[in-house]
Amino acid sequence: MLFKVRVWDLPTRLFHWSLVLCFAGLLATAEVAGAAMAWHFRLGYATLSLLLFRLLWGVWGGRWSRFGTFGLAPATLLRYVRGEQTPALTVGHNPLGSVAVLVLLLLALLQAATGLFSADETVTAAGPLARRATATWVHAATVYHTQIGKILLIVLVQLHIAAIVFHRMRRGENLVLPMLTGDKQLREPFEAARDDARTRALALGMLACCAAAILLLLRWAD
Ligand code: HEM
Ligand code: HEM
Repeated sequence: MLFKVRVWDLPTRLFHWSLVLCFAGLLATAEVAGAAMAWHFRLGYATLSLLLFRLLWGVWGGRWSRFGTFGLAPATLLRYVRGEQTPALTVGHNPLGSVAVLVLLLLALLQAATGLFSADETVTAAGPLARRATATWVHAATVYHTQIGKILLIVLVQLHIAAIVFHRMRRGENLVLPMLTGDKQLREPFEAARDDARTRALALGMLACCAAAILLLLRWAD
């Protein structure tokens, strides 16, 4: 018998797919450059707001989106890597997935944060905080943003997608469907993530606060 459990609440799912769209848009606008950089910036601010929201949602979000339920203890990781695949370890992100997700979030945050300080050689495209920082800092941020962080993120996203394909092909586990519908079919009746009008309104309020914080930062930088 299988139990249908809500694992990914709507805010987490919307966060994920919006992040994917922003990421694609950021790479495309950076590639086109020139006038497209205005959109690179806008998408960058949207990404920053989304990432800040996800950090808050990691504390107050649905049960399986909370960082506290990620299996990050070394002993848990070891059990998983040694082949223990109990449902308790794989309800939300599995322990290895949890580490990958946190690294992805941190690298994306670092990429967006360094973007704020980045400037191209002619300073035709300069992040809003570049004017307020020293030349050394701007140089370091730009080198990280355009040469290091970009590669790290692209490689990690490729690994992320490869891991999802691996789970599908080798373990017959479809991880994408739950990220779309929110639900997993589990062999045990685990506690569901709360995902009702109240929690969704809370998420919307949190996202609005994150966007407002970014707007305030931009106004201050201007
Ligand atoms: C078409 C491409 C993508 C697919 C099919 C995909 C699919 C997924 C799936 C299935 C999960 C849940 C994994 C699990 O069950 O443990 C997930 C989580 C996640 N993915 Fe992706 N992903 C894609 C692209 C990306 C990109 C481009 C990024 C970031 C730049 C990203 C960042 C994340 C993050 C941060 C999580 C954790 C979600 C959370 O807990 O908030 N993904 N992805
Ligand atoms: C996670 C979010 C972001 C991603 C994935 C991203 C990605 C990229 C990439 C791939 C490039 C081109 C690097 C190259 O090949 O030259 C670039 C350039 C740039 N980005 Fe971002 N970016 C992000 C956020 C931001 C933000 C928030 C800002 C500023 C508001 C920003 C400002 C810039 C600037 C000024 C450049 C041009 C630097 C140069 O040409 O030397 N980026 N970004």
